[in-house]
Amino acid sequence: GDWLQTSVSETAKPETPITLGFSQLGKESAWRVANTASVQEAAAESGIRLVMKNAEQSQKKQFEAIRDFIQMKVDVIAIAPVVESGWEDILREVKAAGIPVVILDRSVNVKDTSLFVTTIGSNFYEEGAKAGKYLLDRLRHLPGPIRIAELQGTSGSAPSIQRGEGFRSVVSAREDMSITQSAPADFTEDKGRAIMRGFLQAPAEKRPHVLFAHNDDMALGAIDAIEEAGLKPGEDILVLSVDGSRRALEQLAAGKLNAVVECNPLIGPQLMQAAKEIMAGRTLPKRMVPPEDIFTQERAAEAVNGRKF
Ligand code: AHR
Repeated sequence: GDWLQTSVSETAKPETPITLGFSQLGKESAWRVANTASVQEAAAESGIRLVMKNAEQSQKKQFEAIRDFIQMKVDVIAIAPVVESGWEDILREVKAAGIPVVILDRSVNVKDTSLFVTTIGSNFYEEGAKAGKYLLDRLRHLPGPIRIAELQGTSGSAPSIQRGEGFRSVVSAREDMSITQSAPADFTEDKGRAIMRGFLQAPAEKRPHVLFAHNDDMALGAIDAIEEAGLKPGEDILVLSVDGSRRALEQLAAGKLNAVVECNPLIGPQLMQAAKEIMAGRTLPKRMVPPEDIFTQERAAEAVNGRKF
């Protein structure tokens, strides 16, 4: 009879897969490449159809990608936002189209938080504070003045803004410690090298004792520049960075870096989980933060083993 046909066709119908549009911001760093791979692998593993567009550091390109996703009527849109500001209008367009949004990795600065369902990503302020705490502890017996050079990431990006603030909130405890040089180097190795070369042109009495790089790639470039200048990274200039890439941990084990604060890019599975829960009508916490640590030289060699990025 009728009921049988209905139930057979219902059970036989394969579930339509969820389509996820993901606007990735770029491929500036080892972290970013690992993050992209994590999202791709997790989508494949969980049977989610992924449409990904890479914006090459351009917010305008992210807007275009998001508008394409609206046209395609994807089920969920995920955005890794290159900068923190300027998202209200486009997020309103997405909301008007009835598509739920997940903010991945970096955060957006919007007043109306109903414009996204959840944010999955690190606590960047805490990362900067961890670097600052390491430094205070490490130099507790060293009298000042202590000059710090800072390589910032992309101007206006959440990790650069918040790592800078978290770091300052801690090192400001010592009046004889100050950030004497600071410039954006876009989270890339080449810029890190170039900007650090510039910093090291300063006369010896103005040279930094410490470098705080907002990510590993910039620190690795800067290590080259320090060596070119005839100085020993990790000794003549203490080097701190954020992420925890394999290459950085190798340099940490080799003594050229002093501490690496962990930032975890492998959040693809959490994104897929969130997409599924949203589609199932469940409520999610507004913010999900992966647990993160700090790597020091003592632990580096062991941490390199099995490192995923
Ligand atoms: O948003 C996370 C940051 O972006 C990582 O620290 C950096 O390496 C990446 O480019």
